[in-house]
Amino acid sequence: MRKPFALSNWKMAMTIGEAQSYVGELLATAGDLLERVEVVLCPPCTALHVVGQALGGRPVGLGAQNVSAHEGGPHTGQVPARLLADAGCRWVLLGHWEVRRDLGEDDALVNRKVRRALEAGLRPVLLVGEARDRRGAALDDLAQQLPVLLAGSRASDVAGMAFLYEPEWAIGAAEPAPLEHVAAGCHAIRTWLRLVYGDGTAGAARVIYGGSVTPEYAGELLKAPDVDGLGAGRRGRDPQAWAFIIRLIAEARR
Ligand code: PGA
Repeated sequence: MRKPFALSNWKMAMTIGEAQSYVGELLATAGDLLERVEVVLCPPCTALHVVGQALGGRPVGLGAQNVSAHEGGPHTGQVPARLLADAGCRWVLLGHWEVRRDLGEDDALVNRKVRRALEAGLRPVLLVGEARDRRGAALDDLAQQLPVLLAGSRASDVAGMAFLYEPEWAIGAAEPAPLEHVAAGCHAIRTWLRLVYGDGTAGAARVIYGGSVTPEYAGELLKAPDVDGLGAGRRGRDPQAWAFIIRLIAEARR
């Protein structure tokens, strides 16, 4: 059985002090749920080390929000995968819509980042999903993106990844994508993984949904059979709301 998965993306938020209080509150509130759900926190780079320390060996994963496509060399302003691993990261979020927009990333560049992450022992959480104006073409776009993003990846690498289905139009919105849309997208991802990498890999990789996930909508979203968990930005930064969502994930996938 796959362990359910919960991803909290802090984006540009949280000072060192705020990050420490968040972790304290989350550990106190989520308690033993952290054994049942694989929770991954993605703080900004400035807080990675301190969040790792505050977690103090508790079973919560640390992830970065991006990585350089370069292994080393002179690239001012970038952070290579090996330094993220050194800072305690085991995961890295790749291909987020905001990174694509702000920094001009495309699928081929995200693929290079996947390569660098895997070389350094980091597990990608790979964001897939249609652009804002492609809502009706979601399944076509997934079928186009996945082969480019995963080019050169072995089945054993893919089995250890998480796939975050997050349509651009659902991010920062009043409500998440409708259940049928989420179910169809996540099912398409799992089906593609099965066809290309086989049952074992498709059965091991986690597929989650993100985009305006809230405590109010989480239970509904978890009705989609291929959804192994949820990712959240705004609600992922509120330890009480996030612990509540983690509880719903644990209950829906026990
Ligand atoms: P949101 O952000 O939950 O605030 O919509 C999600 C994300 O961008 O990952």
